[in-house]
Amino acid sequence: MLIKTEYHPELASQFHLQDNHRRAERIPWENYPVSVEEVLPYRDVIEKIYDTFPSEHDSDHDSGHILRTLIYALKLSRYYEGQGYEVDEEVLTWSVILHDIKSNHHEDREDPDNHGFMGAVYVEPFVKSGFTPDKARQITENVRWHNKPPNAVPAEVATIEHLILRAADSLELGRMKEERTIIVFVDEARQMAPFAEQLIAQTVYQFQGNTFDNITRAALDAGLLVA
Ligand SMILES: [Fe+2]
Ligand SMILES: [Fe+2]
Repeated sequence: MLIKTEYHPELASQFHLQDNHRRAERIPWENYPVSVEEVLPYRDVIEKIYDTFPSEHDSDHDSGHILRTLIYALKLSRYYEGQGYEVDEEVLTWSVILHDIKSNHHEDREDPDNHGFMGAVYVEPFVKSGFTPDKARQITENVRWHNKPPNAVPAEVATIEHLILRAADSLELGRMKEERTIIVFVDEARQMAPFAEQLIAQTVYQFQGNTFDNITRAALDAGLLVA
């Protein structure tokens, strides 16, 4: 077991969840399906951004990390939608795809948590031309704040999409090849951790396993995707 979770529901208090202190019932994840066809259209853009210049993205922030994060995020989104929340999946999807665009190798060494801020500056002009002003702002701000402490996130950024991005991204800490305790602040992320662990074990830890095809196959095995 490389992923251990510690549940801190108080951290969710600013994320506008109606009842963020509850422990969810065991979630029947199979009732909230995400299909392979829904992630396939993003393959090219994810690989272009994260694999074209390998020297710019280390192996912890490659296309595999982004695809797995997108799978967890869409699955969590379907669950929240099933609970009556409105999730803008376009904003969520593009926030996930772009969130680490300026990861590690771009970071200011004086401020190792700076890649979100640098990423936001970088993506802002692109998203402005591709999305409505409101969606462009939300995507940019999600990138900007994704790796800052939850209590530092401005209230207008602390949306359900931002919460899901962070929850999904945190489940990926298991890829670091050492035992990690993930602080989860929604119970849904705690319940998804075993699935994330399985997906990571079958992709990151297997020789040449961290490809789009292998990840979608492993996600089908784990029940995170359906055909
Ligand atoms: Fe990041
Ligand atoms: Fe990330």
